Amino acid sequence: MSKTNAAILGTGRSYPEGILTNAELERMVETSDDWIMSRTGIKQRHKAADGEYTSQFAVAASRQAIERARIDPADIDLLICATVTPDQILPSTGCLIQAELGAHRAAAFDIAAACSGFLYGLTLANQMIRSGQTRHALVVGAEILTRYVDYNDRSTCVIFGDGAGAAVLGASEDERGILSTRIYSDGRYAEQLFSPGGGTRIQPTAETLAQGLHFYKMRGNELFKVAVRSMADVSREVLEDAGYKADDVRLFIPHQANQRITDAVANNLKVESERVYSNIEMHGNTSSASIPIALDECIEMGKVNEGDLVLLASFGGGVTWGAVLMRW
Ligand code: COA
Repeated sequence: MSKTNAAILGTGRSYPEGILTNAELERMVETSDDWIMSRTGIKQRHKAADGEYTSQFAVAASRQAIERARIDPADIDLLICATVTPDQILPSTGCLIQAELGAHRAAAFDIAAACSGFLYGLTLANQMIRSGQTRHALVVGAEILTRYVDYNDRSTCVIFGDGAGAAVLGASEDERGILSTRIYSDGRYAEQLFSPGGGTRIQPTAETLAQGLHFYKMRGNELFKVAVRSMADVSREVLEDAGYKADDVRLFIPHQANQRITDAVANNLKVESERVYSNIEMHGNTSSASIPIALDECIEMGKVNEGDLVLLASFGGGVTWGAVLMRW
């Protein structure tokens, strides 16, 4: 009996036209282009304008992915939107994307796993395709993080940006496709990156808004260490699960959180920089959108070719982390 793998058939990306540069941030908080570049590697990030919302970018990225996968939106039977910045609380952003795309046969929902959301989505889609329940899945990571950024807090406002990236997956009967996946979380570290207000625990009121309780609070220094360790460990696990070593990886796309995190993880895994993709300079940290945007850019630049072993790894608020290994 032939083994069914889930393979990526097409990808897409989209982000707001608006750009926030380090030079502009220098005028908003006490910081400098030098500090931001040397501590994070970020030069600019995309920032949505008033009136723009998450699903707009998710839909644009998804349309591209669907077109490149050469399927019809009605062929999609699973639609997963990874986001921590949904259009609204109810219904899910997934359902709003579904309606815009005309993916009427899909089961659509959201995953809130912060920066690991896209890899959580790939993991679920992979299992649904392997089990035969799903033929085509759309996984889209989309965020407008700048809405939850406090532009008085210099330790977070320099990091986050907006955008969306999508992938269509389908069954593959050959060697191509997802080889192994692992996802984890540890809620004991919830307060390392969180938005305390706005939900049912601290309901949004004029007072909570004035106090900025809906903004992201981050313990960057603590997150940094956990991020490096978990991304390196989970990457080793997926490699071992599939019988490979870091040496075999042709392209490593880590979540774009901070250039120093990327360098430390690659160094820990002993993957030299030529095989590691980074676009953090241009996008900042776009949470669940970061890996699919990076993957789409790599495909466009010809950095990934048939037969290549591609490793994706992420870490984010929750805390959550995961990795996916695939044969392109
Ligand atoms: N400009 C200038 N100085 C800044 C600054 C900024 N934008 N942000 C923080 N600082 C200052 C701090 O106030 C501190 O000053 P002090 O020593 O006088 O108290 C100093 O720089 C060092 O702060 P620290 O937090 O130790 O810096 P860091 O090297 O850890 O870098 C981050 C801060 C946020 C860039 C880094 O910790 C990081 O990237 N962490 C991971 C964050 C992340 O990836 N989050 C998302 C998870 S997916």
